Amino acid sequence: SLRKAVIAGNWKMNKTPTEAKELIAAIAPLVKDAGCDVVACTPFVDLSSAQEAAEGTNIQIGAENCHWEKSGAYTGEISADMLVSMGVKIVIIGHSERRQYFGETDVTVQKRVRAALDAGMTVILCVGETLEQREQGITSELVAMQTKIALGGVSAEELKRVVIAYEPVWAIGTGKTATAEQANEVCHTIREVICELYGKASADGITIQYGGSMNAANAAELLAQPDVDGGLIGGASLKPNDFAVIVEAAT
Ligand code: G3H
Repeated sequence: SLRKAVIAGNWKMNKTPTEAKELIAAIAPLVKDAGCDVVACTPFVDLSSAQEAAEGTNIQIGAENCHWEKSGAYTGEISADMLVSMGVKIVIIGHSERRQYFGETDVTVQKRVRAALDAGMTVILCVGETLEQREQGITSELVAMQTKIALGGVSAEELKRVVIAYEPVWAIGTGKTATAEQANEVCHTIREVICELYGKASADGITIQYGGSMNAANAAELLAQPDVDGGLIGGASLKPNDFAVIVEAAT
């Protein structure tokens, strides 16, 4: 594809700071010649040690969420400005686990996207349907709606700092991957939504990842699809050799 691929690990709630340092150190030599962007999104408490281990490598360290306010009485939350202050420039927003388990809605996703962009960050915006929604035949409409709401108020210039990750909820952590055709179809739908909202240049330029049980064995086929520009990797991002194979498949 014309677009530079982005392979991002989402460590979810895994690894202590010490383990994070070890994992980055193990991944770094394996991905040093990558032709794609390589990102590791870690738990907040791991960010410092992961950054330290990533210094001088081509691995960028990102966070897994941020709040929409700059500061205030929001116990347990972290602001985009706090992340930026420690040099973190990438953040995942709207992951389905946040939507499923932590009450994240399209509206709060939009607010978090706004805050991250205002802080100068790059956003990995997650969208995707549940199995029930897929079986109801509303995947395209649902994903289009999630995308449109999340990007409400985002300018074409700001969109250059947005990566969209299509993650079918039924494929996350289940070992059940979308077929390459299914992945491409929905990534293509998202690109059409971007075209409708921002025009062809923005649609051609935006990076759209697939996520959901992407692994060393299936990455090449998924990444070969014309509308799949990378991956958001959960489980396999914790295994240096598997993650390196995925990075290699994207280059
Ligand atoms: O953000 C990553 C996705 O939720 C995929 O997770 O690769 O473990 O299925 P998974």
